[in-house]
Amino acid sequence: MSTPGRPVRIPDIQEKKTRGEKITMLTAYDAWMARVLAGSGTVDVLLVGDSLGMVELGYDSTLPVTIDEMLHHARAVRRGTKRALLVADMPFGSYHSDTAESLRNAVRFVKEAGAEAVKVEGGERRLELIARLTEAEIPVMGHVGLTPQSVNALGGYRVQGKTVDSAEQLLRDARAVEAAGAFAVVLEAVPRELAAQITRELRIPTIGIGAGPDCDGQILVVHDLLGLTFGQTPKFARKYANVGKIISNAVREYSADVRGGNFPSDNESYHSGAAERKDKLGISIC
Ligand code: KIV
Repeated sequence: MSTPGRPVRIPDIQEKKTRGEKITMLTAYDAWMARVLAGSGTVDVLLVGDSLGMVELGYDSTLPVTIDEMLHHARAVRRGTKRALLVADMPFGSYHSDTAESLRNAVRFVKEAGAEAVKVEGGERRLELIARLTEAEIPVMGHVGLTPQSVNALGGYRVQGKTVDSAEQLLRDARAVEAAGAFAVVLEAVPRELAAQITRELRIPTIGIGAGPDCDGQILVVHDLLGLTFGQTPKFARKYANVGKIISNAVREYSADVRGGNFPSDNESYHSGAAERKDKLGISIC
């Protein structure tokens, strides 16, 4: 059971499904953020998603993200928390050639970043890879439905599984991920009814993002949840706070104080020894 303070482990995630308890998962990219999110004591899994490229690094898609960029941020997140289960996304290109190289890359996330698991996008076509990683003691989280690394092939970021054919393919993908040995699977941008059917059918937990409330758990990109995303966000991305506005207001106040000579105050300044002694004796300092 994932009690507060005790680190969450892979079997805890499976047990949550068995008990019918929802799994909470969020993305994280930095040590401070990991500390705050895990410090809430309510988040089971942190994902260093390759959404890093879009929300933190300013790329237009997740495709340019490199393995070194992912490792750099995964290490920071690991330093920020020991409690949450840490999953790292394998970026585009790091598991698309031969299995031996993909395995070497996955090992880096465990050895160099302290991740407990990696996530790879794709269903049936990843069967062999997921089986190989699992066999090498690297737990894998699958990701089917809208897979952002396939944006060029899909022709955009669209809901998947809306036609009978694509719904059947998605079912096959989810089954393949489970059969290959993944411990959980993300369902992204999938009709609620189909996500519910997959969730009922699979033994492993499903984690939804834009896949309705019937999944075993939910994940959001933390920037969407906090109101730190610029531009349009998908309809499932509920904004729980407007941190962007809080930051702008704080920065505006700071600038006004600096310009008006109100920052720093005397209390926020250091004083020379002589001045401090005079201060203690109650003599005013010019
Ligand atoms: O990269 C990411 O943040 C993700 C989640 C949206 C599931 O893959």
